[in-house]
Amino acid sequence: MNPNLLTLLSETDRIMSGGNGWHPDPNLILPSGVYRGMVHVGVDLGTAYTVLVVLDENFQPIAGEYQFAQVTRDGLVVDFVGAVDLLRRMKAKVEERLGFTLTSAASGYPPGVPQAEVRATANVLYGVGLECTGLVDEPTAANNVLKIRDGAVVDVGGGTTGIAIFKDGEVVYTADEPTGGTHFSLVIAGATGTSFEEAEALKKNPGEQTRLFPIVRPVMEKVGSIVNRHIQGHHVDRLYLVGGTCAYPGMDKVIEEYTGIETVLPGNPLFVTPLGIAMNN
Ligand SMILES: Nc1ncnc2c1ncn2[C@@H]1O[C@H](COP(=O)(O)OP(=O)(O)OP(=O)(O)O)[C@@H](O)[C@H]1O
Ligand SMILES: [Mg+2]
Repeated sequence: MNPNLLTLLSETDRIMSGGNGWHPDPNLILPSGVYRGMVHVGVDLGTAYTVLVVLDENFQPIAGEYQFAQVTRDGLVVDFVGAVDLLRRMKAKVEERLGFTLTSAASGYPPGVPQAEVRATANVLYGVGLECTGLVDEPTAANNVLKIRDGAVVDVGGGTTGIAIFKDGEVVYTADEPTGGTHFSLVIAGATGTSFEEAEALKKNPGEQTRLFPIVRPVMEKVGSIVNRHIQGHHVDRLYLVGGTCAYPGMDKVIEEYTGIETVLPGNPLFVTPLGIAMNN
């Protein structure tokens, strides 16, 4: 696994929550304070969050933005105009912070999405003036960050659960299925008589997560059953959890119990895939 993972993820959290304090190589900073090195840009148009992240030439985060938005569903762009508008605003904010214009980016897609739909993702990037330099499947992108050689990466996002199995550092299998954080929020809304938006906030509130645990546990087990089905016939010793939904406390334990496979949650799982997408640019 990547020995610098925890530092990388906590730096990313800081940048994403609006923190400044980016410290790239001082030789690459102009007297004006503007970074002048090469950058790697990633765009993740997720079901729940749209994320834009900029890395310096050493693949360290220097700026980023994320926004809750329902512009894609299960990897498909369902609101093209909305996606372009949102990404344009996010890009402008990041550019203002950086002091220069972004010209290209990589993006990602859940495994198994038809190529025609993947092209729609690239078109969102072109729509905001970013050349799309590559599209990578999401769990494979996550492994640019994790750097595992053997095991399975499980990306539980808002809409879907993606799985990639690695052997000797190579992907040998990928899959993606509906079930993600949106389903957690839906069962919470049903059980507590709240709206989806209220349920979404309750779910992410650390003060509510213990009380709500019994309500969401069956959805966690559903994720476990998806994992079990896809790893059948592969020898998998360890699962690595990424994707925002895996931030729910106890998720790793439920998946470990359900699958009987050692399960690792490597730091904040929310930005692993977007970071890995940027590394592809
Ligand atoms: N602290 C938290 N506890 C529980 N769930 C969380 C937390 N933070 C974020 N989430 C959930 O994580 C999900 C978003 O994760 P992520 O950004 O990985 O998904 P996405 O990439 O937008 O979706 P997908 O990959 O399915 O297209 C949302 O459902 C959100 O409610
Ligand atoms: Mg995602």
